[in-house]
Amino acid sequence: MKFGVLTGGGDCPGLNPAIRAIVYRAAASGHATLGYLDGWKGVRDGLSRPLTLAEVHGLFNRGGTILGSSRTNPFAKEGDAVKVVEQLRRDEVDALIAIGGDDTLTAARDLFRRGGRVVGVPKTMDNDVGGTDWTFGFHSSVAVAVDAAERLRDTAWSHHRVVVLEVMGRHAGWVALATGLAAGADATLLPEEPYDEKTLLERVRAAANARGFALVVASEGIDLGPRRGSTGGKDDFGHELLGERQVGGELARRIQEATGIESRSAQIGHIQRGGPPELFDRILATRLGAAAVDLALAGRFGQVAVLRGSEVRGIPLDEAVASTKVVTSDWLDLLHTFEP
Ligand code: F6P
Repeated sequence: MKFGVLTGGGDCPGLNPAIRAIVYRAAASGHATLGYLDGWKGVRDGLSRPLTLAEVHGLFNRGGTILGSSRTNPFAKEGDAVKVVEQLRRDEVDALIAIGGDDTLTAARDLFRRGGRVVGVPKTMDNDVGGTDWTFGFHSSVAVAVDAAERLRDTAWSHHRVVVLEVMGRHAGWVALATGLAAGADATLLPEEPYDEKTLLERVRAAANARGFALVVASEGIDLGPRRGSTGGKDDFGHELLGERQVGGELARRIQEATGIESRSAQIGHIQRGGPPELFDRILATRLGAAAVDLALAGRFGQVAVLRGSEVRGIPLDEAVASTKVVTSDWLDLLHTFEP
């Protein structure tokens, strides 16, 4: 059997360990692996290279992806979809493993519907893929955001300021939630809750009165109303480039205007996506990569390897891409327990 592998969408820590696990697991049963470059673009345009054990051996702790990634949507144009199917046939790939978030996995599902022999591996720093308890990339990204929050807290304390940290996460607030919880933020704003300026200002004032400074964590996906609307910039899957709206900067301006307390903001952006994967992500990526090979060897195409509790299993791609996994009310209750 010949395996193909691609990494699509935004990169995150854990992609390289997942690639490594796929190549090793396939080789253990005597199968070769072809790596497609830059996500679906590589399959569409025939850009690939064989992956050897020697090449992937040291990837257990490497950030980024050796295959490159892109947000190319192979099903945006009918002609491209045909090219993808033909290229896989030409390369004699018996099983394609698509590592990606909701967009990449939706494309994998569409390929499966056209008869493609494909299985998925979920990844994303956003942690918003349905059907899996965690996606790899999330824990590593949050560790970076928590480190940033703690550094910002030190300087806010020294200068008696309010500091707003803007984190990524698109339309799910998992990164903001975990950062706010782990870094003891005084207010954490997520897209799952409507923006409430009155409550935000109350929390900031209460923190400033108690300690002389305040830390606010804001997800890039929050809606601040007409003053911060769409940027117009969209990726190939039609997603707005949310970071360009700079909601953190806007919040700091509003807080300073309303409270008179000097305020600053920091947007850490893609810093959250680089660097070595944390322990949890290394292990999860390794388990899911190996499980995807096992699914393909068992002929379970159209499935994706996921984590449920402590168990790794396969579920239909349809189930994983049915809806975006957003922060639930029990998490929001916990978060607000610690806000002043
Ligand atoms: O989906 C991962 C993510 O990092 C989101 O949190 C963010 O909105 C988006 O990708 C940024 O995309 P890009 O790398 O195209 O700027």
